[in-house]
Amino acid sequence: RIAYVNGQYVPHGQAMVHVEDRGYQFSDGVYEVMAIYKGRPVDAEGHWMRLERSLAELEIDAPMSRAALDFIARQVVFRNRITNGTVYVQVTRGVAPRNHLFPPDGTPPALVMTARAGLGPRPEVAERGVSVVSQPDIRWGRRDIKSVSLLPNVLAKEKAHELGGFEALLVDANGLVSECSSANAWIVSAAGALVTRPLGQDILPGITRHRLRDLAVERGYPVEERSFTLDEAKTAREVFLTSTSSFCMPVVRVDDAVIGDGRPGPLAKALRACYIEYLD
Ligand code: PDD
Repeated sequence: RIAYVNGQYVPHGQAMVHVEDRGYQFSDGVYEVMAIYKGRPVDAEGHWMRLERSLAELEIDAPMSRAALDFIARQVVFRNRITNGTVYVQVTRGVAPRNHLFPPDGTPPALVMTARAGLGPRPEVAERGVSVVSQPDIRWGRRDIKSVSLLPNVLAKEKAHELGGFEALLVDANGLVSECSSANAWIVSAAGALVTRPLGQDILPGITRHRLRDLAVERGYPVEERSFTLDEAKTAREVFLTSTSSFCMPVVRVDDAVIGDGRPGPLAKALRACYIEYLD
């Protein structure tokens, strides 16, 4: 395997960053995970736009142009011979002596890219549907920034996993579902609308969420961007998740509540098929 680290392609086993990289000491950086499907990056534009936005919000300089980032990402995919997989892109505020203040102007941001074969869980997982476990959302107030500071996400997903869940369904202080530890959350309301939390500082603007929303609207499915409670999720007709690696994943259980008849719902299945058709 080959990784890209600050200007060089290096063997994956020797891909290192400095101990004073601000990502390492302060989580002072952002990232993207992009799917590679049949050898092509999925929604690259959206991922580069979101990366640029995350960087701008944190006042980290873009390491290079979007075209240059795109070129390196494709190189990493090519050099690792990835057909279906993911590319990981991380930009931090660079290397500087430890100090909470930003490093001096001109300190270059640090850029790392890696690629890995394998995209998402086995098909049987989506065919059966997954369970999710609710967890309090203890993240910071800018969840719209794709920050590498993922400790609350890691702890929530680990807890959910311990309890037999595929994902943690994060519930904010007001009892509203925000999203999952690494996916956006959706329900189908009693009236048959696809409901997902509106964009804002409380959730990550998922690229898959955006794509699926467009595909749903194109096909005439009603979409409602509004918040919903954990109880609403538990009694919803359907529940599903969206993310780069799980596409559209049907949820058949939320904590102890069985969703619908305990099998993936018709809308989640139809939307998953739409998304795969779009990828193809
Ligand atoms: N996670 N919400 C959170 C908190 C996420 O971390 C992610 C992505 C999503 C879905 O976004 P997208 O559709 O753009 O993948 C929602 C990535 C895949 C990860 O951390 O591995």
